Amino acid sequence: MSAVVEQTKTVQPRKAVLAMPEYHPPLAGRDALRLDFNENTFSPSPSVLRKLQQLTSEGMTIYPEREPVERIVAQHFGLQRDQIILTNGVDEAIHLVSCTFLDEGDEALICTPTFFMYDVSISLMTSGLRRVQSDDSLTFPFERFLAAITPRTRLIIVASPNNPTGATVSREHLLAIAAAAPQAVLMVDEAYFHFHGDTTIGDVGSIPNLIVARTFSKAYGLANLRIGMLAGDARLISYIRKVSSPYNVNGVALAVLPDAVADDAYIAWYVEQVRKGRERIFAALRELGVRTWPSAANFVLMDIGRRHKELCAAMHKRGVLVRDRSADPGCDGYVRITVGIEDHVTRGIAALCESLAEIGWTPAEGRGQA
Ligand SMILES: Cc1ncc(COP(=O)(O)O)c(C=O)c1O
Repeated sequence: MSAVVEQTKTVQPRKAVLAMPEYHPPLAGRDALRLDFNENTFSPSPSVLRKLQQLTSEGMTIYPEREPVERIVAQHFGLQRDQIILTNGVDEAIHLVSCTFLDEGDEALICTPTFFMYDVSISLMTSGLRRVQSDDSLTFPFERFLAAITPRTRLIIVASPNNPTGATVSREHLLAIAAAAPQAVLMVDEAYFHFHGDTTIGDVGSIPNLIVARTFSKAYGLANLRIGMLAGDARLISYIRKVSSPYNVNGVALAVLPDAVADDAYIAWYVEQVRKGRERIFAALRELGVRTWPSAANFVLMDIGRRHKELCAAMHKRGVLVRDRSADPGCDGYVRITVGIEDHVTRGIAALCESLAEIGWTPAEGRGQA
């Protein structure tokens, strides 16, 4: 049989699927202190735990009902129900936004380094992804970003605070981007909002092309339940709702979400733990001579240099996972550590000190203090 005939018998995915990048976070083997994925390191609110205990077996048998919970969550954010949609984490939100607004040939714009799932979801829809690289300061390249907008730009995604840099983008700059690209959706990913405090959610509705993404995976401690949301102009959200499966969010997440958002005191406590822990980690790394970048999120990026893999392995040996970010553009030798509750920060710092000593690291191996 000829090779041509053989090939037609083999199922092939879309060309975009063959070309798209792959994201391979570890899906097993994280049985340690997990300072590698910027999760809440402790627990969701006690009221969420109480609600989980009240769930019934009968409740598991029915399809989940998203709408009543969307009303409660919208009200919490001062929005109408038609201005939000709950999603299976922000990961799904990115996917839905890309599917809803991008055709092949359209341009989409992100800065790099940033959250890798933007690349994955956008590349599935178009080969027109444009990346604007931050310089060594890892701050948001505002002027160059603005200059990269073209009449073909249909989607712009900006994370503030950004992952893995921890850098923020001011509301003024975000609104300038939205105004410069009225033909494009600007999605502001506020996954790490709580650890910073600035938001554009108050501009939803008045800026017609703005969509804000929030996750409940980080400060709220619900990463395992896969729940996030998009807030935006009702017209834009209605298109996304068309694309979304009606049962994209599971009933357990829906059952506990009203309790999670209502417990402001718990979130305030957790955020304070992170703010204090972040300062302790910065101080420890300063003392050790490790270069870092300012972070408004629940993680710190550090420059270890060519021994980055050795450091991650030495940390793992001590039961602490950290994330090697060396493959991110402009991040060669950089490692990210999540900031959690006080005890976890103490263990993380101790493991860092011991691991750097074990591998015989000296500040000359990174590039010293920024
Ligand atoms: C910037 C950013 N957005 C979104 C996500 C994913 O959030 P979720 O757990 O809601 O899918 C992450 C996770 O690390 C992230 O860093």
